[in-house]
Amino acid sequence: MRVYKTRDYDHASRVAANILSAQVIMKPDCVLGLATGATPEGLYKQLIEWYKKGDIDFKKVRTVNLDEYVGLDGSNDQSYRYFMDSHFFNHINIKKENTNLPCGTEKDTEKACKDYNKIIKSMGGVDMQLLGLGLNGHIGFNEPGAAFDKETHVVDLSKSTIDANSRFFASIDDVPKQAITMGIKSIMQSKKVLLMVTGENKRNIVKEAFFGPITPNVPASVLQLHNDVILVGDEAALGDNFDKYLDL
Ligand code: F6R
Repeated sequence: MRVYKTRDYDHASRVAANILSAQVIMKPDCVLGLATGATPEGLYKQLIEWYKKGDIDFKKVRTVNLDEYVGLDGSNDQSYRYFMDSHFFNHINIKKENTNLPCGTEKDTEKACKDYNKIIKSMGGVDMQLLGLGLNGHIGFNEPGAAFDKETHVVDLSKSTIDANSRFFASIDDVPKQAITMGIKSIMQSKKVLLMVTGENKRNIVKEAFFGPITPNVPASVLQLHNDVILVGDEAALGDNFDKYLDL
């Protein structure tokens, strides 16, 4: 594992953006695995800025995202497709047909999962998978207890997630009850993993993930078994727990 400890969130965003850029420069038609959430917003902003300056070119890049809500199409501002378009894809020269998320509107969700696995395989797998970390150790929508051997699959969202999401919807009935996520197996098959963790509230869980037992109860702990993990975290999240691994 390589660890980059940064001063703060903005610095972490620049370091992570540097690492993704290096991947794109070394392999212009690479497959990037991408994530939504608050953590990568600064990273996407930084990449857009460098694209606008002419320092990075996405025209051959292909992407697959970790997850999508069942039942939401890309025009819904709570869908992950909408997030990716508005935070990243609409601002760079990536070809939209080269950007992939699980299909949230396919009625046959099992088919949507199989189709997504096929897409990932047809691309030759993911070169670099960006991950954020949930407060309970989840990666993608793989919540505590998730089996390590799953590829893309459907998950039932917990009541607490549904309740938390309800503030974004007109009524609780409109809140998605399920999501499609790449499984732990799909994530572990990525050639490289770039995990970004910031903020003091993630300090305990990131420590547990890398220094605790490898267990489905902490899904991210499986990353201890991946042979090419890059962790970018700010001081608030890493403390001195990772100092023996430091590159920066
Ligand atoms: C996002 C995803 C999630 C988030 C995680 C952290 O596509 O799959 O696992 O990475 O919930 O979210 P933030 O970054 O909002 O703390």
